Amino acid sequence: MAHLESRKHISPDSGFPITIHPHFNAKIKEHIPPEAIRSEITPSKDRASFADPEKKALFATGAKRTDLTESIGTILENIQLSQLTPQQLDELALLVSERGVVFFRNQDLTTAGQEALFEHYGTLDRHPAQKTQRHVIIKGSTEDHREIASYTPWPSGDFHADTSFELNPPSYSLLRMEEHPPVGGDTAWVSQYGLYDALSEHMQRFVDGLHAVHTSRLQYDTILDLWGVGPNRPPIDTHHPAVRTHPVTGLKALNVNPGFVTGFAELKKRESDKLLDFFDLHLHSADDHAVRWKWDVGNVALWDNRATVHRVIPGSYEAPRRGIRTTVFGEKPYFDPKSESRDGRARRLKAEAAAAAANDNDKVGVADVPTKIAPGSESGDGRTDATVEIVKEADVPA
Ligand SMILES: [Fe+2]
Repeated sequence: MAHLESRKHISPDSGFPITIHPHFNAKIKEHIPPEAIRSEITPSKDRASFADPEKKALFATGAKRTDLTESIGTILENIQLSQLTPQQLDELALLVSERGVVFFRNQDLTTAGQEALFEHYGTLDRHPAQKTQRHVIIKGSTEDHREIASYTPWPSGDFHADTSFELNPPSYSLLRMEEHPPVGGDTAWVSQYGLYDALSEHMQRFVDGLHAVHTSRLQYDTILDLWGVGPNRPPIDTHHPAVRTHPVTGLKALNVNPGFVTGFAELKKRESDKLLDFFDLHLHSADDHAVRWKWDVGNVALWDNRATVHRVIPGSYEAPRRGIRTTVFGEKPYFDPKSESRDGRARRLKAEAAAAAANDNDKVGVADVPTKIAPGSESGDGRTDATVEIVKEADVPA
């Protein structure tokens, strides 16, 4: 069970613990972070920007692609991450940017191999509670997260994008499982492209201009008490666009998560609280934009931290759960008002394709159409007789 300081302070009336202010919690009060607050950096260009849109090199490996849902999540089989070339890694990043999260089974990656592979994608980031420089160990949660939330300000079991409070939140995250219980400890991801798409157009226009307050303060206080871990850096609040533009796909993604967002900079408190409540419901009811992964040893999940949120599902398993996670610094989130939603792009492309097809048909005048074509034959320019019949009907006034 958690070593919560609050559990030592029991109300004589109810018999339940009383939460004391963090300032009087010795574990929080006495901790002095050893590092300073970070400054903004400009990371190198996203590797997915260099990829072949058709990903021919990646699929030349014989990799078998299966999309797990329409909105998010793909599994690649018959592929070893440890064997991929730089070009194939770029194409994999593009696939991840598009699908949100990509899964692999039976991987032979080592921790050193994982770190080296991830350095292809940028400079390795470090979680505030991470003691080693190059990776963090992810154990999962067997706490009763609903009960813990009574005493800690941070919703530790809820959806989040990794360290979204940083000035440069991670672009990509990779989690490789080394030990895992036979049941329990699943991780769920939800598409932030999909969550934006699912808003009404009026709500999209409203949220487009807002800034979400992403904070590490609640996590800072909580992990000092709950985990007994001293964060490396002081807590910060960062205002990021509530809707961000993905630098590779150019798509809009919602940039709000219950793990780290405490409000909206432009709104008054009550407005902000109610909007957060709505987004909590919006996220937790988005089964059509979610995917859930049942882990096994040797599995890997590689996700885009800008286009998804995730959470490990708390459980009561007793066998150890141990994953190795690496992240790399991403760009400072930005909002380009000219960017489009994923649904909006799909509608535009469909309309453009229909318009192009209609335009092609317009170019085929009646005089150009052979009057007699044998059934099943082609008209000479690749159009079948059936196509020609349609063109003739459309072109000839009644
Ligand atoms: Fe996470």
